Amino acid sequence: MAQEIEIPERFPTAGDVTGKRVVITGASRGLGRVLAHAFSQAGARVVLMARDEAQLKEVAGELPGPALVCSGDVADEGFNESVADSTVAEWGGVDVWICNAGISPVVASPLKVDPGVWREVLEVNLTGAFLGARAAARVMSEGGRLIFTGSVLGDRPSQGLSAYCASKAGLVGLAKALALDLARSGITVNVVAPGWFDSPLAEGWKSNPKLADRILDHTAQRRWGSAGDLAGAYLFLASDAAAFVTGTVLTLDGGYLLV
Ligand SMILES: NC(=O)c1ccc[n+]([C@@H]2O[C@H](COP(=O)([O-])OP(=O)(O)OC[C@H]3O[C@@H](n4cnc5c(N)ncnc54)[C@H](OP(=O)(O)O)[C@@H]3O)[C@@H](O)[C@H]2O)c1
Repeated sequence: MAQEIEIPERFPTAGDVTGKRVVITGASRGLGRVLAHAFSQAGARVVLMARDEAQLKEVAGELPGPALVCSGDVADEGFNESVADSTVAEWGGVDVWICNAGISPVVASPLKVDPGVWREVLEVNLTGAFLGARAAARVMSEGGRLIFTGSVLGDRPSQGLSAYCASKAGLVGLAKALALDLARSGITVNVVAPGWFDSPLAEGWKSNPKLADRILDHTAQRRWGSAGDLAGAYLFLASDAAAFVTGTVLTLDGGYLLV
């Protein structure tokens, strides 16, 4: 008879991040601010990263638990390394690093996009995630979690967004490659790919009735994502229950990719 699987005394609870030290980039507004609230409410200690220090301090002031504010550019290697060092100095280590900062400054055909804009989008959305992951992996001596905010547009592109779509598709490749490279260090690397969420970034689409209709026509649930729709995936991936989940994409899109 085949041997039975050993049953643990206690299964890890999905989404339990109590006491974890969690770095969140792009935490000054939008989805990153939502994640800051979700992790703080769940008992994590959070490090808030973005460029606008005043805005970060405001978010820190809203949270129920401890928060560090680190203002700077995610595309700056030295800044990422200094955030890792400051978190270690303050709390003794880093458990989770969420590379969420992202930009989408223009909608235009590739012939009209200034190559400088292409470079900027790739620098922030893709290189920023690589630099964050690199800084995090250096200090995650007991394993950890890297989570990238991708997008459904990395899977199915939208017109006029070549740089953004390429950066988000690139994040999936990066996550898989890093998942392989870091597997033996106990570090998991995954992507959360949101569909359309109501945030400052999406304002240009939401406030344009034609574009907003097109998005809802394409979303099986016919609604925009909300704060409550977002956090569970990140909390799960950050928790001990997700120790065997690596190199995957978890899509949160109300069925956008189905339609
Ligand atoms: N909203 C959606 O529907 C949606 C859907 C799919 C994916 N996403 C992705 O979700 C992430 C967050 O988007 P969002 O909707 O929350 O956008 P958002 O409201 O515009 O917020 C973007 C955040 O990134 C920060 N940021 C931008 N450039 C930065 C840089 N160079 N260095 C450090 N921080 C930087 C911004 O803060 P500062 O300006 O202060 O630096 C801000 O906190 C992005 O990666 C986006 O691509 C969003």
